Amino acid sequence: MKSFYITTAIDYANGSPHVGHAYEKVLTDVVARFRRLMGDDVYFLTGLDEHGQKVQQSAQKRGIEPIELCDEAAEAFKGLCQSLDISNDDFIRTTEERHKDVVRTLLQKLYDEGEIYKSEYKGYYSARAEQFLQEKDKVDGEWPEIFGEVTEITESNYFFKLSKYQDWLIEHIKTHDDFIFPRFRAKQVMEFLKEPINDLCISRPKERLEWGIPLPFDEDFVAYVWFDALINYISGVGYGTEEFDKYWPVDYHVIGKDILLPPHSVYWPIMLKACGIALPKSLLVHGWWLSSGEKMSKSTGTAINPLDMIDQFGTDAFRYFVIREMNVGQDSNFSFELFMSRYNSDLANDLGNLLNRILNMTARYTEGQIPACETEGDLEKELWTLWENTGDKVIGLYEDFQFHTGLDKTFAFISSINRYVEQTAPWKLAKSEAEDDQKKLRTSLYVMAEALRLAVGLLEPVTPGVTEKVYALLGYESSQTWKERLQRSDALTGRSVGEKTILFPKPQAEGK
Ligand code: MSP
Repeated sequence: MKSFYITTAIDYANGSPHVGHAYEKVLTDVVARFRRLMGDDVYFLTGLDEHGQKVQQSAQKRGIEPIELCDEAAEAFKGLCQSLDISNDDFIRTTEERHKDVVRTLLQKLYDEGEIYKSEYKGYYSARAEQFLQEKDKVDGEWPEIFGEVTEITESNYFFKLSKYQDWLIEHIKTHDDFIFPRFRAKQVMEFLKEPINDLCISRPKERLEWGIPLPFDEDFVAYVWFDALINYISGVGYGTEEFDKYWPVDYHVIGKDILLPPHSVYWPIMLKACGIALPKSLLVHGWWLSSGEKMSKSTGTAINPLDMIDQFGTDAFRYFVIREMNVGQDSNFSFELFMSRYNSDLANDLGNLLNRILNMTARYTEGQIPACETEGDLEKELWTLWENTGDKVIGLYEDFQFHTGLDKTFAFISSINRYVEQTAPWKLAKSEAEDDQKKLRTSLYVMAEALRLAVGLLEPVTPGVTEKVYALLGYESSQTWKERLQRSDALTGRSVGEKTILFPKPQAEGK
């Protein structure tokens, strides 16, 4: 069985979950579920980034210990994963011993090998970004808003020899087309690497920052939060154990475009290279959810709490919306109106009503039992031809992360099932006593149930709850592989359907 390892970024513990975090988890989950359905042995890691100045400051403001704040955040983000039906195998917190041990081991190794040195640093520092800045970071002579207050400081620190690997990194990206997806993001990295890169300051003096992992070779300093956080990807899969050998190198690190450069595309590959660890196979870089053209975020007050939406509309509706609306890699606008329009038209009408029509008619015309296919006419042939052009294509699209198009095609097929229902009009056939019409009636009931079974099968990575419910309502159980289940069969014949169910209820008060 092929092993497949996938991760999300680990969220900052000082924020509360918003749509951006939720999207990344759902996207990663869709890929993980898809690979599992395709037969891979998947390991899916997510977690929480708990150290650093911002956590220390937020805790101070609230008069609590940083770890208390982190414990609260861990509950909130784990809760988010549950509410979103995320199938992660583990949740790593950077305050866990298993993580801190690996960070310290690697720091010591790099120090012993002369990859880390001590030096005096004089320059600009942004506490908000927890980052040293250079003149070139100014825009029109000013520090951009994102850096908050910028101060000039002089201090001794430890530096990691990043610059010595610059040429190697350029070569690696040039020769590994799959390293960054989508490809246009690799161009941005290459552009960045045209300028010489500086060595990376990987320590913070304890007097300025206590909330971090002490350097094993100098306890007066803690590790820079990115140097600490990135290592979760290996500590969370048991670095140094058999588990690690099984799953590393990671297949995909799923991240937002804001953290590609420099942490994931420069620091992380060089850290691994310097430690003699294999590089990630690929970075899957998604875009941002925007609100009125701006990145949705807590600091701009535009963050939507996904949990409120899930409470009102259900997990699968949320999952469907974010995957249907976002072309992976691009930005997308998040609006309540857009959500409602997808909810009503795709989910409640096209899918939900179809299911109920099938359940109703089967209950009424064949005593709740799905009949056999007895005759195939043009309408049936047309629908099956469309299926032949849908199933494998959608799998191919999923393979290329074109989930939005995959869903579009799947719903085009669902619309065709609805058209088939209109065209065969079982309610008219039911009025006729002619044996031919009765055969057509039974066939149409069979065909629409079978077509729906196939369609919801394709939705499984995205809306696993819907698939499970519809399977149950069609009386369908199967131990076949996913690909087998996506083949036409007569498995539904003779099955008893369930009671009418509203999959996607109309919201009580719209716009709430
Ligand atoms: N802690 C760092 C990541 C460390 S990974 C070793 C971090 N945390 S974050 O909470 O700010 O962001 C977590 C993820 O959510 C990032 O991949 C980020 O791009 C993503 N998103 C945050 N806001 C977003 C949107 N508005 N839209 C889509 N995703 C965005 O960065």
